[in-house]
Amino acid sequence: MRYLTPWLCLATLVLCGDHDDISNQFGAARQLRTWDEAYALAKTFVAKLNTLEKISLSSGSGISFGPCSGNTQDIDRLGFREMCFQDGPVGVRGTDKVSVFPAGITTGSTWDKELIYLRSRAMGVENRLKGVNVALAPVAGGLGRAPAAGRNWEAFGSDPYLTGVANAESVKGLQDEGVIACAKHFVGNEQERYRLVIENIPNLDREILASLSSQIDERTLRELYEWPFVDAVEAGAGSVMCSYQRVNNEYSCESTTLIRDHLKSNASGGLNFKGFVMTDWFASAIPSLAARAGVDVIMPGDIGATGTVAAFLPASDGASTNGTRLDEMVIRLVASWYKMRQETDWPDVSFSTWSSDDIGVFLDRGYIGQINSHVQAAQPVHATLIRRIAAEGTTLLKNTGGLPLPSTALSIGVFGNDAGPIPESSCGTFGACSAGTLAVGWGSGTGTFEYLIDPLQAITAKAAEVGAVVESVLDDYAYTEIQEKAVGKDVCFAFVNSRSGEGTNSVEGNYGDRNNLTAWRDGDTLVKTVAASCSNTVVVIHSVGPILVEEWIENPNVTAVLLAHLPGQESGNSLVDVLWGDVNPSGKLPYTMGKTEDDYCCKVQYDWDGFQPEQEFSEGLFIDYKWFDKNNIDPRFEFGYGLSYTNFTYDAESLRITEPFGEVDSIDFMAPLFNISVSITNSGSVAGKEVAQLYLGYPSPTNSPVRQLRGFEKLSLQPGETKTAVFVVTKRDVSYWDSGEWKVARGAEYGVEVSASSRDVRAHGTVTF
Ligand code: BGC
Repeated sequence: MRYLTPWLCLATLVLCGDHDDISNQFGAARQLRTWDEAYALAKTFVAKLNTLEKISLSSGSGISFGPCSGNTQDIDRLGFREMCFQDGPVGVRGTDKVSVFPAGITTGSTWDKELIYLRSRAMGVENRLKGVNVALAPVAGGLGRAPAAGRNWEAFGSDPYLTGVANAESVKGLQDEGVIACAKHFVGNEQERYRLVIENIPNLDREILASLSSQIDERTLRELYEWPFVDAVEAGAGSVMCSYQRVNNEYSCESTTLIRDHLKSNASGGLNFKGFVMTDWFASAIPSLAARAGVDVIMPGDIGATGTVAAFLPASDGASTNGTRLDEMVIRLVASWYKMRQETDWPDVSFSTWSSDDIGVFLDRGYIGQINSHVQAAQPVHATLIRRIAAEGTTLLKNTGGLPLPSTALSIGVFGNDAGPIPESSCGTFGACSAGTLAVGWGSGTGTFEYLIDPLQAITAKAAEVGAVVESVLDDYAYTEIQEKAVGKDVCFAFVNSRSGEGTNSVEGNYGDRNNLTAWRDGDTLVKTVAASCSNTVVVIHSVGPILVEEWIENPNVTAVLLAHLPGQESGNSLVDVLWGDVNPSGKLPYTMGKTEDDYCCKVQYDWDGFQPEQEFSEGLFIDYKWFDKNNIDPRFEFGYGLSYTNFTYDAESLRITEPFGEVDSIDFMAPLFNISVSITNSGSVAGKEVAQLYLGYPSPTNSPVRQLRGFEKLSLQPGETKTAVFVVTKRDVSYWDSGEWKVARGAEYGVEVSASSRDVRAHGTVTF
């Protein structure tokens, strides 16, 4: 009930979110069918199909044979149009008149459930208007085990609880517009290198014969990597994508354990997933094995029109091991389609991912026609939303007085290539750019920019408004010029970035994963050069994930540091909002920033001495802050950390922990078990937002992390105002996986911490069941 229609908000004056000005501009959510209703319709439909037609729905029509990243085929006889599966997590990729939203990692940094939902809702609008049936989003794997892993930025942060909440809100957002969400990549896809046999990396001395195997114990799978998928399934996700690499020596997409037993089963611990499972693109070497393991749709299907049927045969071969398997595959796909009511008023696909020409060949249909009709999908309110998310995700790491800019800051220096526009010539396919400002990462998860407001452009426009003068140097290495121009400025901005993406591309020798955690193009030297000449240096970082800042973080001339993550198309505008204090920063880190790469639990496995690479997840549950806590490592900035232009006081005395809402054993796993609340006051002089965080420490016999995030609430507070943060803790939130089942530790104390970050505890308590 949080996302009320405008009418309800106005009529009842009940609690609507902080973003009513935006949410009011969305219509009522689509009324989805229940799974039971959808299955009944799907069974009737599938009963009318012949075997070949069933096969044509259980596998894609071949890469680039239809307009979208993946496509099924038309079944003309029954008026069933091909289904369009399109990337991706920052908006509809590969077409025009769409938005590029802030990346998952930026969105996770807002810790704002309403913004997370609205971002996905807006993407739902754009996908629907373009005729997309299945959006290949959201991403919850990689979770961020290794900070340098290439695709961590597509997901929401390195904690399963935070990512789980974000996953659920994102699924709801897309599906409230009738677009089938696809929770990906299931599971253990924690780096790019060795993810795919056909993607052998240049410069290695040998070709691998099998993808990397993530060796993960069962408890870690359940409590860490599968956890966010539980939320996606609970939120009604229509599809799940199994991942490229192997888990415990079996391909994820061919693992009966993962797909049948964990994902689909309703037995103990099973996620009881009702939608369809699709493979990642070319993830299944042997489709019949995938079909047997429980995969329902093989993507993208084989290449070539005549090859299409042959490509489907392995799937039907899988079916032959069990007469009902092929039917189940198709029923699950069509049930998701009926659940979203896509049989009524669903737009035709109006674009081609593969060509920007207006007229072209429909390879799958065998005729020439208009392949791009430029339907306007981006809406003005989406730009407002993108700017809001990017500003609210921006994380203030250091501030000794540099920000917000005072009205006396009238001479401004802007330094660093990351402040400027992206030169077309620096970009390869899939948004793999090596220069210009960094607004999203590269790969299938990138976006197609209709426009991008770079920081220099926005700062220049704002400066004109306030009567300030801007001088800039965009060449990162023009140290002499930088020094000359930095001298005497009221404020200097030093821009640095760190890029990564999917293994599809390499940029400056980074094959998807980053080679290290330092700023690109010698950003550390750039910052030190600026700071040497300018006593009021504000550093702005655009980064895919943790970045090392040790070389300059304690430099007294560095008076503020903003981590703007990956902001999407409104980059410069959202930054200016924070710099001049129109928006008080409220983003908090969705990962830990260590002092060295060795501080972290895990690294990308760059080398392997054989043909079937493996990676031991021997750290178990202890990734990111859980590793730092366990090993008493001082981070530079801990998980959950972020400053504000105001101060917040937590009233430790006000901490309340309710009794359980019933007998623990009889409460459902996903149901609320008890509440925790605490009051928080804005004790500073400007309005601001605080993300209050709940961490629980499980009793020690459970061998759990020192603390685990189990709740967060973002409160908007005027100066002097007090509000109560209420955390609803479910039974799942106090459960751990032991000997094949979820258990609550009985008769021993759980530690309760209400905190401003994972290391900044403001109220302590305990609870026992
Ligand atoms: C990626 C997926 C993506 C698919 C289709 C794969 O390479 O791993 O995330 O959805 O391509 O483009």
